Amino acid sequence: MTIFIKNGSVVSSTGVIQADVLIDGETIAAVIAPGDTSLGANLEATADQVFDAQGKYVIPGGVDVHTHMELPFGGTFASDTFETGTRAAAWGGTTTIIDFAVQKQGERVQDSLAAWHAKADGQCAIDYGFHQIIGGVDDDSLKAMDELVNEGITSFKLFMAYPGVFYSDDGQILRAMQTAANNGSTIMMHAENGIAIDVLVQQALAEGKTDPRYHSLTRPWETEAEATNRAIMLAKMTGTPLYIVHMSAKQAVQVVQQARDEAWNVFGETCPQYLYLSLEDHLSQPGFEGAKWVCSTPLRSKAEHHQEELWRYLRTNDLSIVSTDHCPFCMKEQKELGVGDFSKIPNGIGSVEHRMDLIFQGVVDGQITLERWVEITATTPARMFGLYPRKGVIAPGSDADVVIYDPAGRTEIGYEKTHHMNMDHSAWEGFNISGHVDTVISRGTVVVDNNQYIGTKGHGKYLKRGMNQYLV
Ligand code: URP
Ligand code: ZN
Ligand code: ZN
Repeated sequence: MTIFIKNGSVVSSTGVIQADVLIDGETIAAVIAPGDTSLGANLEATADQVFDAQGKYVIPGGVDVHTHMELPFGGTFASDTFETGTRAAAWGGTTTIIDFAVQKQGERVQDSLAAWHAKADGQCAIDYGFHQIIGGVDDDSLKAMDELVNEGITSFKLFMAYPGVFYSDDGQILRAMQTAANNGSTIMMHAENGIAIDVLVQQALAEGKTDPRYHSLTRPWETEAEATNRAIMLAKMTGTPLYIVHMSAKQAVQVVQQARDEAWNVFGETCPQYLYLSLEDHLSQPGFEGAKWVCSTPLRSKAEHHQEELWRYLRTNDLSIVSTDHCPFCMKEQKELGVGDFSKIPNGIGSVEHRMDLIFQGVVDGQITLERWVEITATTPARMFGLYPRKGVIAPGSDADVVIYDPAGRTEIGYEKTHHMNMDHSAWEGFNISGHVDTVISRGTVVVDNNQYIGTKGHGKYLKRGMNQYLV
């Protein structure tokens, strides 16, 4: 099966060129400059399928390195399965996800990984890999980290938040970092001071402050900046690469910036919700509506100007990646668990379908360049998590994960209009984006075209990953 994409503007992290793209089977066979006939004069005539991308961008499929399908949280489970979540991702131009297998205290890490394979294998519309959450750092789980590296799990997430659930104390973090430093893997950190937050939460509840907005007010920026700083100091002691997930506070990113200026292997990630949504406009909506936007780290105050600074840090590369932290919960029977007590609202927002569009809006708004859009949503995620150049670039030999994106199109996000995630609402209702995902190709198979999903469950393959490719 061959696919010929003609007349498009092929975008990479380093530039835009006019070129045709030839796909043969599951891989990119050639990127052909105008007038180059070295592969034959009329490739179009012999191709099985032809797309005319005149006026459109041809980009590598999105790589979303932070999703939580079926995550157990707060007495319920994230509402997307691997089947529904990866299908929604495909709709939005994402062709690779990396999800988190979850080990809880007392559980064998290997068993938790097997459980994640059981959920995902044979279910996915697009390719997928795993990070491993270590929720109980002890001798056995540390040994397991070494084993998992050989299975293509080269990144481990730890939590400084959620005491009694996923939380690790500083000694546990230090030991896990020493292990990672030794086996070459990357530590991913949920950097919030969970012990301090728990005190603030109990105090707020005792004062009758139960509305969703108190979720943010009890997690002030200092709790993120302090934990970020502590994580970096611990990483410096061990020499482990450190990737701070879902950053929302500008002061926390400033700490990352300082470490990067000193040439430490410290990397920052943010998510669309922190670039567009806020405490005032979303979390503070009347009644229980704000629960839709309860996530951690929390949405922050517009008045504090975090959003502008996060965009700036994306330009300076102090934030290297935009992932979604896709962790959807329905309002009914899930978010509703926190009626009358914001601390019982399951944490998470569903966005896996909208990341490419939402960040393209940053190009339209003049926040980032076209090349940077591709870099922070596809190329850097692939390199950071050992998938490049198989993923994240359109080049001969790479997997044929390709999106034809129409900058003149429009995407009106809304539950009734464009929603394919397994949720009963959209956190992005009413967002009207300049740009549209026209065609999505996953490993040489067209999975979305003409506003139709034509992929299949089980097409997505498990990806064994290499090491972080930014390390020297
Ligand atoms: O609110 C969030 N972020 N939910 C998912 C779990 C996590 O901490 O990433
Ligand atoms: Zn987290
Ligand atoms: Zn997460």
